Amino acid sequence: MKSIEEIKAEIENFKVENAESLEQFRLQFLSKKSEIQSLFGQIKNIAQENRKEFGQLVNDLRDLAQNSYNRYKAVIESTTNTKTVEIPDITRPAARQTVGSMHPISIMMNEVRQIFEEIGFSAVEGPDIEDDWHVFTALNFAEEHPARDMQDTFFIKVRPDVLLRTHTSSLQVRTMESQQPPIRVICPGRVFRNEAITSRAHCIFHQVEGLYIAENVSFADMKQTLLYFAQRMFGNEVKIRLRPSYFPFTEPSAEVDISCNICGGAGCNLCKHTGWVEILGCGMVDPNVLENCGIDSNKYSGFAFGLGIERMTMLKYKTNDIRLYFENDVRFLQQFKAATK
Ligand code: DAH
Repeated sequence: MKSIEEIKAEIENFKVENAESLEQFRLQFLSKKSEIQSLFGQIKNIAQENRKEFGQLVNDLRDLAQNSYNRYKAVIESTTNTKTVEIPDITRPAARQTVGSMHPISIMMNEVRQIFEEIGFSAVEGPDIEDDWHVFTALNFAEEHPARDMQDTFFIKVRPDVLLRTHTSSLQVRTMESQQPPIRVICPGRVFRNEAITSRAHCIFHQVEGLYIAENVSFADMKQTLLYFAQRMFGNEVKIRLRPSYFPFTEPSAEVDISCNICGGAGCNLCKHTGWVEILGCGMVDPNVLENCGIDSNKYSGFAFGLGIERMTMLKYKTNDIRLYFENDVRFLQQFKAATK
C-alpha cells in the first residue's frame, strides 16, 4: 500500500488544467473508492497507541485533497466563464436614456414667479385646506353674500368652516395679518372648485395672486405693473385693456384682457373674434379687507390681482383643452422638454 507521503506527493503533483482533469482528481482523491477513503477504513487495524496519530494524518491528507480541489474548481469555473461571456461591442451607440421634462404648469408657474420676483415681489405659500375666515370672511364676503356663489366650494366635513381654498387670495389675508406694509408678495398655489370638468374648466387648477400695499399706491401703478407683466410674458407688442368688474375684496375691480396672441387682434376662435382674451382679475384692495387684517386703511392703499395658470399656459402654448394638464399623458408632456429649464 502507498504511504501517506506518497499520496500527498501525488496530490501535489497532479496537474489540473480543465474540467476533465478536475473530475479525475476528484475520483482519485475524494470519491468513496479513493485511496484516502480506504485509509480511513484501516484506522481500526492500527495499534491502539498509534491510532490517533494515524487518524490525524489521514484527516490532513483528505483536507489537502479537498482544498486543492476547491481551488482548482474555482479557477476553472472562472476561466470557463470569461470564455463564454460575449464581450460587448464598445463602439456601439449607447442606449438612449429618456430624460423627463417639467410639467407645463410648473414651467408657467416658475415663469410668472420669476417675472414678479425680478421687480421686487416675493413668493409666499400656504395651506390648501383653509378656513372660512381666510378664504371668504376676511376678504369682505359677508356671510350670506351671493358673491360666495361665484366660487363653488368643496367643504370638508370635520367642521362647517373648513374648506379647500377656492383662490389663493387667502394668502393675502395671511400675509397682511402677519406683516405690516410695505408688502409686495405673490402667492402661487393650487386651488379647488366644485365644478364640472370640461375642456375649459377643472375642479383643480393653479393661481398666482399678487398683492402690493404701501403708502399712495394707485390704480395707475397697478395698470403699469400688469402691462409690464403681460409684455414680459407674451411679447412687447402685446396690449392690455381693463374692463370694470366686481370682486368683494377690491374696489374698484377690473378684468384684464390681452390682445389675442394667436390672431394678433384680428379675431379667431380663441378670442371668439373679439381680438381680446381675459387673463386676470384685479383691483384696489377694499379698505374693509385692510382693516380686517389689521392694516390702517387711512394710511395705506394697495392693489391685488389673481391669474389662472392653466389659462395662461393654454394661451402661451396654444392648447385648447385644460384636461390635458391633468391627464399626465407623456406624449403631451414630452413636448415641453425644450421649455424645461
Ligand atoms: N380671487 C379671484 C378669483 O379667484 C381672482 C382675483 C381677482 C384675485 C381680483 C385678486 C383680485 O386679488 O384683486 O377669481
